[in-house]
Amino acid sequence: MTKKPIYKIRNTAIYNFLKLQQDPIAFFDQLTKESRYQVCTFKGLKGNLYMVSDPELIRKILLKSGKEFLKEPDANKALARVGGYSILNSEGEQWKRNRKILQPAFHWKYLEKLFDNLYAVAEEGVAHLLQQKGKRINIATEMTAITFKAVLRVLYSTDIHMSAKELQQVFATSLEQVTKILFNPFYDLTGFFTGDHQKLQKSNKTIHTLVDQLIQERMAYEGDPKYDLLEMMMNSRYEDNGEKMSREQLRNETITMFFAGHDTTANTLSWAFYYLGKHPDVYQQIKEEVRKVWGEEPPSFEKVRQLTYTQQVVEETMRLSSAVPFINRLSQGAEVEGYHFPKGERVLLSIYHMHRNPEIWEDPEVFNPERFSPEKVKERPVSHFMPFGAGPRMCIGNHFAMLEAVLLLGMLARTFDFELLSEKVGSELIVTHKPKGGVWVKLY
Ligand code: HEM
Repeated sequence: MTKKPIYKIRNTAIYNFLKLQQDPIAFFDQLTKESRYQVCTFKGLKGNLYMVSDPELIRKILLKSGKEFLKEPDANKALARVGGYSILNSEGEQWKRNRKILQPAFHWKYLEKLFDNLYAVAEEGVAHLLQQKGKRINIATEMTAITFKAVLRVLYSTDIHMSAKELQQVFATSLEQVTKILFNPFYDLTGFFTGDHQKLQKSNKTIHTLVDQLIQERMAYEGDPKYDLLEMMMNSRYEDNGEKMSREQLRNETITMFFAGHDTTANTLSWAFYYLGKHPDVYQQIKEEVRKVWGEEPPSFEKVRQLTYTQQVVEETMRLSSAVPFINRLSQGAEVEGYHFPKGERVLLSIYHMHRNPEIWEDPEVFNPERFSPEKVKERPVSHFMPFGAGPRMCIGNHFAMLEAVLLLGMLARTFDFELLSEKVGSELIVTHKPKGGVWVKLY
């Protein structure tokens, strides 16, 4: 097959580096527009980068994860500076063995067992928000607090001795530092002078001490079995040698679940409130669905899954504002659909731009949950919507995230009306894609 041409962006590496530091999403927007959604390449400080926003090409590259395309090693290393190596940032046998052990915990069957914990947190969240009625609040902060507690509870069935707010702050500091490491190749040098190193060291120490203590306590626990992810991980055995996960691996995997499992869902819900504030008719439809399906009763696991319209709203939110807008890979030398990706070059898969490509989506900038009606979904190739990625490295927590987002949105819509106070909200990338400055609302 003849090689397909790749659009060359002619900026210098330094210009690209500075733009990336300033505002990565705006910079990638500029590249996408200039290349008109074609595969393009631009210079980075460590070699060329390729940017892809074609759905089938993205899917095919993701299907080759672990073979012709590996996860980007610099990103893996940056993440390891907080949580060590876990399924999120390892490769090969290590990844495969741990993914196998963890996978069953995220099946619907097991999630049903975690539901009571999840529902209890959602109820506490609603009770807290009832006290905020009539006040100007940042719903993004509130959603982060709830999803943080949720992940704590389903991982460890516990609240932590430290206040959730303090702990959340510690995790936020680590995330901020990981973003700096990712975008600044001189971090090791500059961080020494800016105080970033000390910040990272301090937050890491707190996280590690805390997680070690939780694991220690559980190892000594002799009461009734608990239904949580830690228990499940501790009781599983590797298929090949029948051994259990080491204490260090337990620590790495649980820290990763904290990181990967709360911020992403919190951002999705925050963006949802922004879009719903702009589309009060859609919010009314959620309320109507909740009234019909749940009545006045507390929802069961099954009843949450029956909120199909609310699920469509979450999906449309993730189309416009994916919490993970870009996926990185390192090419091992690959030919995909006629495009050549040389060995050692980095490939950036832009889920964000694919989800907004006017060739694929009609009026892509318009928020319209009807796009996810069962009929519309059937008409469309699956590759057009990939907020959780695809292939072997697809998000392990996708069902959990959907369950939590739909449950929370349903419970909030049932309890509150709200007014959106943020007229326009920008984007920022702090590992995940956040509404810049939050989303300010008044609940009624
Ligand atoms: C709306 C919420 C979420 C979004 C949009 C999201 C998105 C993603 C994406 C796109 C990937 C693939 C990255 C790649 O291919 O390099 C991923 C991987 C992952 N996600 Fe999520 N995620 C979400 C929620 C969660 C939750 C709730 C958990 C856990 C409780 C979780 C845990 C993970 C883990 C461990 C991986 C790595 C899997 C592997 O490489 O084997 N995520 N996520």
